[in-house]
Amino acid sequence: MNVFIKTYGCQMNERDSEAIAGMLTKEGCQIVDHESKADVLIFNTCSVREQAERKAIGKVGFMKKLKKDNPNLVIGIMGCMAQNHGEELLKTLSHVDFVIGTGQLHKLPEVLTSILEERSQLALLDEGCEVLTSMGSHYKMPDSKPCQAFIAVTRGCNRFCSYCIVPHVRGREISREINDVVEEAKELVSSGVKEIMLLGQNVAAYGLNGDTKPPPKGTSPFADLLKELNEIDGLVRIRFTSPYPSYFNDKLIDAMATLSKVCHNVHLPLQSGSDRILKKMNRQYTAEKYLEIANKMKQRIPDITFSTDVIVGFPGETEEDFIKTRDIMNNVGFDNAFIFKYSPREGTPAAIMEDQVQQEDKERRNQLLLQDLEERTAEHNENLVGTVQEVLVEGPSRRNAERWSGKTSTAKVVMFPPDEETERGKLVKVKINRCTPVSLFGDLI
Ligand code: 5AD
Ligand code: SF4
Repeated sequence: MNVFIKTYGCQMNERDSEAIAGMLTKEGCQIVDHESKADVLIFNTCSVREQAERKAIGKVGFMKKLKKDNPNLVIGIMGCMAQNHGEELLKTLSHVDFVIGTGQLHKLPEVLTSILEERSQLALLDEGCEVLTSMGSHYKMPDSKPCQAFIAVTRGCNRFCSYCIVPHVRGREISREINDVVEEAKELVSSGVKEIMLLGQNVAAYGLNGDTKPPPKGTSPFADLLKELNEIDGLVRIRFTSPYPSYFNDKLIDAMATLSKVCHNVHLPLQSGSDRILKKMNRQYTAEKYLEIANKMKQRIPDITFSTDVIVGFPGETEEDFIKTRDIMNNVGFDNAFIFKYSPREGTPAAIMEDQVQQEDKERRNQLLLQDLEERTAEHNENLVGTVQEVLVEGPSRRNAERWSGKTSTAKVVMFPPDEETERGKLVKVKINRCTPVSLFGDLI
């Protein structure tokens, strides 16, 4: 049976798609790279913003024609939107055979068998932690990077930021056993993986059993996990995303500074630079605290780079609040930022707050932050011209096959002409001779 999987949204969804593909290939299915070659179409969806849902619904709607031409085609929706809208999707999209929520993805092989036998619509939406059993299964998707792999270490989120649908659709936060994670990493490394990205909606809460209080002083189960993974022979780099700022205590910062494989780049979601808005967002830190954490990391890890998530136009955000966000962003000096226009999500407290911000203001604020970001990254990249950077080689550049590309530990993209010895997964030294705001260019030394 040929299966096509289309993934929307975050890296956790990409990881879930790999796990689904891993389970299905074990059952004898083939993964294909186009819907026209498939007997089964799976849409692994996102709900974090309205646009993400609209995109997936549009695409699934379009599949009606394929099903008309081939009535045996099986179509399923999985992931956050499946969880969010459940059986309602089966009513509005009558050509869809099944919806499977985020807690039931391990049941996919059984669901497919049942659909093929009975051909009646099916919805599986319960929350459950058995889903963890499927998490060790990996399949290299056609567009994934050969020497890198994702490992999900936590699932779900208990933080309930007031704008966010994730805790509602991905359920309560659970962490995997440290030994399972380490074993999975070892297996990946023995299959050629050099860099692992640890994933969790709130990854630094790893091992806290869902407690929303940051760990007591001097302890960090997440730092303990990093330490174990750092010991794995053959593993070159460890990254992680996304941590909530309050979990960066001295123990975790110290682990990042001293463990040789942990990369010097951190994605630290800011969301807003205004304490008033942070409070309305139910974020448990102030702008000052955020800066203190970032500055501490800069002190301990001088070449560290930061990226972030920011929301513009959260309900009640005034020009003054926005300026605070702009200032703190310029102050930290992010090298990358995902800037989102606030999108009301039904069922979350922010969706019914007064003073929703006009779309034009969201657009304008978004543009201003993007401009600032480009200026900052251009400055940072200029400062790297003339330096020598250690680069983990990823492969030929997509735009120009004469050039290869890779990344520094600080997550900078570096382009260079390859030599006979250049190969994926190798660490090379590149002397940087020019840059753009997004990439560095140089020659092997
Ligand atoms: N509107 C806009 N952005 C959102 N995010 C989460 N929920 C919303 C929403 N309702 C953003 C946050 C989060 C990132 C993954 O998506 O910045 O960190
Ligand atoms: Fe959403 Fe907040 Fe949880 Fe991140 S920490 S997934 S923004 S609720």
